[in-house]
Amino acid sequence: KKIVVLVSGSGSNLQAIIDACQQHQINGQVVAVISNKAGVYALERASQANIPTHVISHHDYPSREIFDQAVATIIDTYHPDLIILAGYMRILTPDFVDHYAGKMLNIHPSLLPKYPGLHTHRRAIEAGDSEHGTTIHFVTQELDGGPIILQAKVPIFADDEEQDVIDRILVQEHQIYPLVIKWFCDNRLKMLNDAAYLDDKRI
Ligand code: GRF
Repeated sequence: KKIVVLVSGSGSNLQAIIDACQQHQINGQVVAVISNKAGVYALERASQANIPTHVISHHDYPSREIFDQAVATIIDTYHPDLIILAGYMRILTPDFVDHYAGKMLNIHPSLLPKYPGLHTHRRAIEAGDSEHGTTIHFVTQELDGGPIILQAKVPIFADDEEQDVIDRILVQEHQIYPLVIKWFCDNRLKMLNDAAYLDDKRI
């Protein structure tokens, strides 16, 4: 299966996915990495793995719609089976989401439906939560609202700084994102009528 990964930052999840493909844990390969930001470390990781990269800066486009059309045009030249959002910090337009319905996944660092949006770790700490986590879901038009596939939980300890929680979550993300992508590439994972199915069983 051909996988295109969209990033905006350090790309540690991208790295976990590249590694899992190289080790044949995932029956697929990352055929391109697209970033909306130049100079991010995710691009370096892709280059190191000889994966083609594209920078498409949203600042160069007059609207979200036209930016997303430009991104989709590049994505579609690769004819991917799966689009992976891995720390991609852009809100997607409805047309873009619909174009990849059932074949786009996102990872969001909270136990959705808790804390959609930004600064999830800080919000969980400030709320006094004793646990936090991360969620992989199919992408639908609702921000961080698509059908949930898999979640991982981590504890929050009394003396935690935000970075402690971020790091604890990332360790889990690097485990569960490759696993879910493996399921998808093995044709075990589907979205039907806004619900997620694993081996034909509703999640
Ligand atoms: C991850 O925590 C992910 O959940 C969130 O952004 C972070 C990306 O980290 N969407 P990285 O770029 O994969 O290191």
